[in-house]
Amino acid sequence: MHSPRETIPPRSTAAVLELLPPFPIVLVTTRTNVITIGQIEYFTFSPLRIGIAVAHSRHTYSLLKAEREFVVNVATAELLPAVRTCGSVSGRDCDKFDAAGLTREPSTVVSAVSVGECGAHIECIVKKEIAFEERTWFVGEVVAARMVPGHRGSDALLCGRNHYVLPGGIVGSR
Ligand SMILES: Cc1cc2nc3c(=O)[nH]c(=O)nc-3n(C[C@H](O)[C@H](O)[C@H](O)COP(=O)(O)O)c2cc1C
Repeated sequence: MHSPRETIPPRSTAAVLELLPPFPIVLVTTRTNVITIGQIEYFTFSPLRIGIAVAHSRHTYSLLKAEREFVVNVATAELLPAVRTCGSVSGRDCDKFDAAGLTREPSTVVSAVSVGECGAHIECIVKKEIAFEERTWFVGEVVAARMVPGHRGSDALLCGRNHYVLPGGIVGSR
């Protein structure tokens, strides 16, 4: 016997979005800019390719179209103020590294810079663009990855509907 279910109207976007757990939130860099991105997915595993969805209105969209390289910088809880700044201010209007107190560091393979304060960096070269309505998914092949010694994915910041959270504990092996 199943327990009763509560019906959620399918157009109640906020309520439906509560049904899945919080998702990773990262700082994506190009050569000169940094943006907060929540829409990030592993697209393929062999080779490893990561997709990020960028709205056409973002400064980052024009930069990615021209540069075709990006770095996924994994943010930890200490970087929450920077995540907020990079997710609300446009690089068209200011230098977001200065505004958010972040340090540019050279990456190893791509010309996009890395964020020195982040726990890990995944360098990607764009292999495919998938436009969908007002956003484009830029799918990048992973060409290099680095991390601060001891960094774990469980240190990485997640984003819920109304809160930023950290991953919980392990509940079983896979
Ligand atoms: C938590 C959070 C997640 C976001 N995720 C995305 C995203 O996945 N794609 C996107 O285009 N914008 C996203 N944004 C909005 C951009 O970060 C924001 O518009 C930014 O100021 C654009 O910067 P730019 O104009 O320098 O590229 C997000 C913002 C926040 C706060």
